Amino acid sequence: MKNEGIKQPKSEHLKDLGSFDVEPEYAYLWDRCVYELLYDPEKYVKELSDLLNQHGVDKVSNILDTSAGSGFPALDMCESGYKNMVCVDGSDDQISLFNEKAETKGLDIRSQKCSWEDLPQHFDAEQFKALICKGSIWYAGGGWNKEAVPDRESSLKALRETLSIFYSLLSHGGVLYLDKFKDDEIDHKDAVGTFEVQGKKKELIFYTHREKDLNIRRAKMLIKDLETGVEEGLPNVTYDLKAEELEDALVEVGFTVIRPELSEEKFFSTWLAVKG
Ligand SMILES: C[S@@+](CC[C@H](N)C(=O)[O-])C[C@H]1O[C@@H](n2cnc3c(N)ncnc32)[C@H](O)[C@@H]1O
Repeated sequence: MKNEGIKQPKSEHLKDLGSFDVEPEYAYLWDRCVYELLYDPEKYVKELSDLLNQHGVDKVSNILDTSAGSGFPALDMCESGYKNMVCVDGSDDQISLFNEKAETKGLDIRSQKCSWEDLPQHFDAEQFKALICKGSIWYAGGGWNKEAVPDRESSLKALRETLSIFYSLLSHGGVLYLDKFKDDEIDHKDAVGTFEVQGKKKELIFYTHREKDLNIRRAKMLIKDLETGVEEGLPNVTYDLKAEELEDALVEVGFTVIRPELSEEKFFSTWLAVKG
């Protein structure tokens, strides 16, 4: 069966995302999709917890979510009883939404701004028993919300540098959970939801496209104005990282690599990288 990446609902089943006075931010729309279309967060956290637990990570372990985004899965882990989570992200809009959600849920945790290269300035070596890097490692060379033409060599170098930082933050036996879009993901452009802004109908579209000649992958959410047909979105452009290249980089920085099968993760390939 072909892998069509993040799966689209049939057009008659588009998610109704509601009505707004001002255009919602992409971080907000992504968050709605994560929770209402893409994942069952409770089941996902249960499966991830079981996996982490097999490697000695429990609810009092120090855990860093390196790209916490709007809170999936870190906020759900906190709600399920994880007591010592630390969350960072590189984007202000994601951090604001994370913190708003945490406050609404009555959780003490807050996300802080920190890019991966700056992590050693904020945290001690070997401080964490586990790191989570969900939906993001292929942005190590940049390209999140940026137009770019990344090349293989510099992208893999940045990947190794990032993984090496992650490695240094883990204690002996600590684990890094990470994922990546599937190697056989095929290009798609699919409407997933609808909403209105001041009465104007809009459609939310998921889009990914590989430019094979340049070896790059474009992925974005588009907002389509249904009156004018105009589509707008923030670019995310990265080197088209392959699973084998990610595994090679993990091994090169010292990790032992495991490929867990998580039934709750339908869109990405997953890895658990063990230090030592
Ligand atoms: C697709 S989102 C995933 C967020 C969340 N983990 C999820 O699964 O919904 C990717 C996130 O990676 C973050 N990110 C990308 N590059 C980063 C970097 N170099 N340092 C810190 N965060 C980064 C972005 O700000 C964004 O929030």
